[in-house]
Amino acid sequence: MISGLLNLADQPHLAGSLTVLRLTLHVLAATVWVGGQIVVAGLLPTIRGLGEGAPQKIARAFGRLSWPAFWLLVATGVWNYVAIHHASATNGWNAIFGIKMVAVLVAGLGAYLHTKASTPRARGIYAGLGTLASIAALVLGVALAG
Ligand code: HEM
Repeated sequence: MISGLLNLADQPHLAGSLTVLRLTLHVLAATVWVGGQIVVAGLLPTIRGLGEGAPQKIARAFGRLSWPAFWLLVATGVWNYVAIHHASATNGWNAIFGIKMVAVLVAGLGAYLHTKASTPRARGIYAGLGTLASIAALVLGVALAG
Protein backbone atom coordinates (compact mmCIF):
# COMPACT_ATOMS: atom_id res chain seq x y z
CA MET A 1 0.00 0.00 0.00
CA ILE A 2 2.75 2.47 1.05
CA SER A 3 4.93 1.52 -1.92
CA GLY A 4 1.86 2.06 -4.13
CA LEU A 5 1.51 5.64 -2.80
CA LEU A 6 5.23 6.36 -3.32
CA ASN A 7 5.01 5.13 -6.90
CA LEU A 8 2.07 7.49 -7.51
CA ALA A 9 4.13 10.47 -6.22
CA ASP A 10 7.04 9.52 -8.51
CA GLN A 11 4.79 9.17 -11.54
CA PRO A 12 5.12 11.91 -14.17
CA HIS A 13 2.07 14.14 -13.80
CA LEU A 14 0.84 17.45 -15.22
CA ALA A 15 0.99 20.67 -13.17
CA GLY A 16 -2.28 22.54 -12.53
CA SER A 17 -2.99 25.64 -14.64
CA LEU A 18 -2.27 28.12 -11.78
CA THR A 19 1.08 26.39 -11.12
CA VAL A 20 1.90 26.60 -14.85
CA LEU A 21 1.10 30.36 -14.80
CA ARG A 22 3.13 30.99 -11.59
CA LEU A 23 6.25 29.10 -12.73
CA THR A 24 6.03 30.33 -16.34
CA LEU A 25 6.04 33.98 -15.18
CA HIS A 26 8.91 33.29 -12.73
CA VAL A 27 11.03 31.45 -15.31
CA LEU A 28 10.20 33.92 -18.12
CA ALA A 29 11.34 36.82 -15.90
CA ALA A 30 14.52 34.84 -15.04
CA THR A 31 15.31 34.40 -18.76
CA VAL A 32 15.14 38.19 -19.27
CA TRP A 33 17.05 39.12 -16.07
CA VAL A 34 19.76 36.41 -16.17
CA GLY A 35 19.88 35.64 -19.91
CA GLY A 36 19.82 39.35 -20.78
CA GLN A 37 22.90 40.05 -18.64
CA ILE A 38 24.83 37.21 -20.28
CA VAL A 39 23.81 38.30 -23.79
CA VAL A 40 24.64 41.99 -23.20
CA ALA A 41 28.05 41.00 -21.72
CA GLY A 42 28.74 38.87 -24.81
CA LEU A 43 27.74 41.70 -27.17
CA LEU A 44 29.80 44.34 -25.32
CA PRO A 45 32.89 44.27 -27.63
CA THR A 46 30.58 44.85 -30.64
CA ILE A 47 28.56 47.54 -28.82
CA ARG A 48 31.79 49.42 -27.94
CA GLY A 49 32.64 49.49 -31.66
CA LEU A 50 29.37 51.34 -32.42
CA GLY A 51 30.85 54.56 -31.09
CA GLU A 52 31.13 56.84 -28.07
CA GLY A 53 28.24 56.47 -25.62
CA ALA A 54 26.84 53.30 -27.24
CA PRO A 55 27.41 51.04 -24.16
CA GLN A 56 25.59 53.59 -21.94
CA LYS A 57 22.64 53.77 -24.37
CA ILE A 58 22.38 49.97 -24.55
CA ALA A 59 22.69 49.71 -20.73
CA ARG A 60 19.81 52.20 -20.28
CA ALA A 61 17.64 50.35 -22.84
CA PHE A 62 18.44 47.01 -21.18
CA GLY A 63 17.55 48.44 -17.76
CA ARG A 64 14.05 49.30 -19.02
CA LEU A 65 13.56 45.54 -19.64
CA SER A 66 15.65 44.00 -16.87
CA TRP A 67 14.31 45.91 -13.83
CA PRO A 68 10.63 45.09 -14.53
CA ALA A 69 11.79 41.45 -14.96
CA PHE A 70 13.60 41.63 -11.59
CA TRP A 71 10.50 42.93 -9.79
CA LEU A 72 8.37 40.27 -11.54
CA LEU A 73 10.85 37.68 -10.19
CA VAL A 74 10.39 39.05 -6.66
CA ALA A 75 6.57 39.15 -6.96
CA THR A 76 6.25 35.65 -8.47
CA GLY A 77 8.96 34.44 -6.02
CA VAL A 78 6.74 35.49 -3.08
CA TRP A 79 3.85 33.73 -4.85
CA ASN A 80 6.06 30.58 -5.20
CA TYR A 81 6.91 30.74 -1.50
CA VAL A 82 3.33 31.04 -0.26
CA ALA A 83 2.17 28.32 -2.70
CA ILE A 84 4.51 25.77 -1.10
CA HIS A 85 3.46 23.69 1.91
CA HIS A 86 5.88 24.98 4.55
CA ALA A 87 4.99 22.39 7.17
CA SER A 88 6.43 19.71 4.90
CA ALA A 89 9.52 21.69 3.74
CA THR A 90 12.77 19.97 4.76
CA ASN A 91 15.57 21.78 6.65
CA GLY A 92 17.67 21.54 3.48
CA TRP A 93 14.91 23.27 1.44
CA ASN A 94 14.63 26.09 4.00
CA ALA A 95 18.43 26.53 4.09
CA ILE A 96 18.69 26.70 0.28
CA PHE A 97 15.77 29.17 0.21
CA GLY A 98 17.66 31.44 2.69
CA ILE A 99 20.88 31.24 0.62
CA LYS A 100 18.86 32.01 -2.52
CA MET A 101 17.43 35.17 -0.88
CA VAL A 102 20.99 36.38 -0.16
CA ALA A 103 21.91 35.66 -3.82
CA VAL A 104 18.86 37.66 -5.01
CA LEU A 105 19.87 40.58 -2.77
CA VAL A 106 23.46 40.54 -4.09
CA ALA A 107 22.13 40.23 -7.69
CA GLY A 108 19.91 43.31 -7.33
CA LEU A 109 22.52 45.32 -5.42
CA GLY A 110 25.30 44.40 -7.88
CA ALA A 111 23.15 45.47 -10.87
CA TYR A 112 22.14 48.73 -9.13
CA LEU A 113 25.71 49.65 -8.09
CA HIS A 114 26.86 48.80 -11.65
CA THR A 115 24.60 51.59 -12.95
CA LYS A 116 25.97 54.07 -10.35
CA ALA A 117 29.71 53.22 -10.59
CA SER A 118 31.95 55.96 -11.97
CA THR A 119 35.03 53.96 -13.02
CA PRO A 120 35.18 51.15 -15.64
CA ARG A 121 36.87 48.88 -13.04
CA ALA A 122 34.04 49.33 -10.48
CA ARG A 123 31.42 48.91 -13.25
CA GLY A 124 33.03 45.59 -14.27
CA ILE A 125 33.29 44.30 -10.69
CA TYR A 126 29.64 45.12 -9.87
CA ALA A 127 28.39 43.70 -13.18
CA GLY A 128 30.34 40.46 -12.62
CA LEU A 129 29.10 40.17 -9.04
CA GLY A 130 25.48 40.81 -10.09
CA THR A 131 25.60 38.30 -12.94
CA LEU A 132 27.26 35.57 -10.83
CA ALA A 133 24.73 36.07 -8.01
CA SER A 134 21.88 35.97 -10.58
CA ILE A 135 23.13 32.64 -11.96
CA ALA A 136 23.46 31.33 -8.38
CA ALA A 137 19.82 32.37 -7.66
CA LEU A 138 18.74 30.54 -10.83
CA VAL A 139 20.57 27.30 -9.91
CA LEU A 140 19.24 27.42 -6.33
CA GLY A 141 15.71 28.05 -7.70
CA VAL A 142 15.95 24.91 -9.84
CA ALA A 143 17.04 22.98 -6.71
CA LEU A 144 14.04 24.39 -4.77
CA ALA A 145 11.61 23.31 -7.51
CA GLY A 146 12.94 19.77 -6.92
C1 HEM B 1 17.36 36.78 -9.42
C2 HEM B 1 16.17 36.39 -9.01
C3 HEM B 1 15.60 35.00 -9.19
C4 HEM B 1 15.90 34.03 -10.12
C5 HEM B 1 16.91 34.10 -11.27
C6 HEM B 1 15.05 32.88 -9.83
C7 HEM B 1 15.01 31.72 -10.57
C8 HEM B 1 14.24 30.60 -10.28
C9 HEM B 1 14.15 29.41 -11.09
C10 HEM B 1 14.86 29.18 -12.44
C11 HEM B 1 13.33 28.54 -10.45
C12 HEM B 1 12.97 27.10 -10.89
C13 HEM B 1 11.58 27.08 -11.50
C14 HEM B 1 11.24 25.67 -11.99
O1 HEM B 1 12.14 24.87 -12.24
O2 HEM B 1 10.05 25.38 -12.14
C15 HEM B 1 12.89 29.16 -9.20
C16 HEM B 1 12.06 28.58 -8.26
C17 HEM B 1 11.68 29.19 -7.08
N1 HEM B 1 11.91 30.50 -6.70
FE1 HEM B 1 13.04 31.86 -7.73
N2 HEM B 1 14.26 33.18 -8.72
C18 HEM B 1 14.56 34.46 -8.30
C19 HEM B 1 13.98 35.15 -7.25
C20 HEM B 1 13.14 34.58 -6.30
C21 HEM B 1 12.62 35.27 -5.14
C22 HEM B 1 12.88 36.75 -4.80
C23 HEM B 1 11.87 34.35 -4.44
C24 HEM B 1 11.10 34.50 -3.15
C25 HEM B 1 10.71 35.64 -2.62
C26 HEM B 1 11.93 33.08 -5.16
C27 HEM B 1 11.34 31.90 -4.75
C28 HEM B 1 11.35 30.71 -5.46
C29 HEM B 1 10.72 29.47 -5.00
C30 HEM B 1 9.99 29.26 -3.66
C31 HEM B 1 10.91 28.52 -6.03
C32 HEM B 1 10.39 27.06 -6.04
C33 HEM B 1 9.05 27.09 -6.79
C34 HEM B 1 8.31 25.75 -6.80
O3 HEM B 1 8.87 24.71 -6.51
O4 HEM B 1 7.09 25.76 -7.13
N3 HEM B 1 12.70 33.28 -6.29
N4 HEM B 1 13.45 30.43 -9.13
